[in-house]
Amino acid sequence: MNLLDEVNKVGYVSRSVPFKGTDLKEEILKLKKEKNAVILAHYYVDAEIQDLADFLGDSLALAQAAEKTDADMIVFCGVHFMGETAKILNPNKKVVIPDFNAGCSLADSAPKEEFAAFKAQYPEAVVVSYINCTADVKAMTDIICTSSNALKVVESIPADKQIIFAPDANLGRYVAKKTGRDLILWDGACIVHIDISLEKLKKVKEENPNALLIAHPECKEVILSQADFVGSTTALLNFVKDSDCHEFIVATEAGILHKMKESVPNKKIIPAPANEKNTCACSECPYMKMNTLEKLYNAMFYELPEIQVAEDIREPALKALKAMLDISK
Ligand code: 13P
Ligand code: SF4
Repeated sequence: MNLLDEVNKVGYVSRSVPFKGTDLKEEILKLKKEKNAVILAHYYVDAEIQDLADFLGDSLALAQAAEKTDADMIVFCGVHFMGETAKILNPNKKVVIPDFNAGCSLADSAPKEEFAAFKAQYPEAVVVSYINCTADVKAMTDIICTSSNALKVVESIPADKQIIFAPDANLGRYVAKKTGRDLILWDGACIVHIDISLEKLKKVKEENPNALLIAHPECKEVILSQADFVGSTTALLNFVKDSDCHEFIVATEAGILHKMKESVPNKKIIPAPANEKNTCACSECPYMKMNTLEKLYNAMFYELPEIQVAEDIREPALKALKAMLDISK
């Protein structure tokens, strides 16, 4: 089987790499130089990949970094829609991701045909889509948002306009509450954030009465209503750094704890507990965790799997992304 067929079948280059440990990291950095590549990573990937990245950030900052880069190859360590976003912004650059299987439950919740039928029911509505969606859905969108600018994006739309908000219903309910706007919601959810256990959280709060609860807006309303602060991954990180408080219960994916603990080593950081079915005590995104150093090396070496976006989808998707980037400067 040739390499491309193999990648199309399994979703990544599965050849074993001849390096281990620090050698593997060094080889990745060497490849980065040789190929003028930039490694962009989200806070939810494993710490060793976060540490190798040229740029680490939340979804908005990563899209902004992808827009600005002058590298020849973008290597996106996150999930598929993030790589796709980078490709929409950079049609002439090569964009590779370590594993095509790294999807997202939110993006999966909105298949293009179903979303088109939903949108057709509200022909007058402005469509706001969370960046966690496919390029096909972005192409049917007027303006994209992320967790860090969703309030601003919705507030930018004239008050007399109907608004469809997709695909995250929890973020949508949060934005509706904060802005007072009546949003037409698509019923999608993040499997990681909705798995945070209220029962267990109550216990953790009792055991840590001085801790502030900080939460990502993809969490359920019952969690958000108890939170002392709600924000994107970067906003949570900044809150912990800037706050006078010394203890925090963090309701988001556990990958963020790496940078949090590094930036505030003397503060107590407690991950919000997930339900029993999650094997670890905290919340882990199975898609983000598909990024490994081996797959990263192979993606850079073989320049596969490569993200492609058809031009008839890319153009309208770019318009929706640009609309967001313009109001987020
Ligand atoms: P942010 O980093 O933009 O807060 O997004 C969180 C997330 O779930 C990414 O998939
Ligand atoms: Fe998608 Fe949730 Fe994973 Fe983020 S944490 S990539 S929203 S499944």
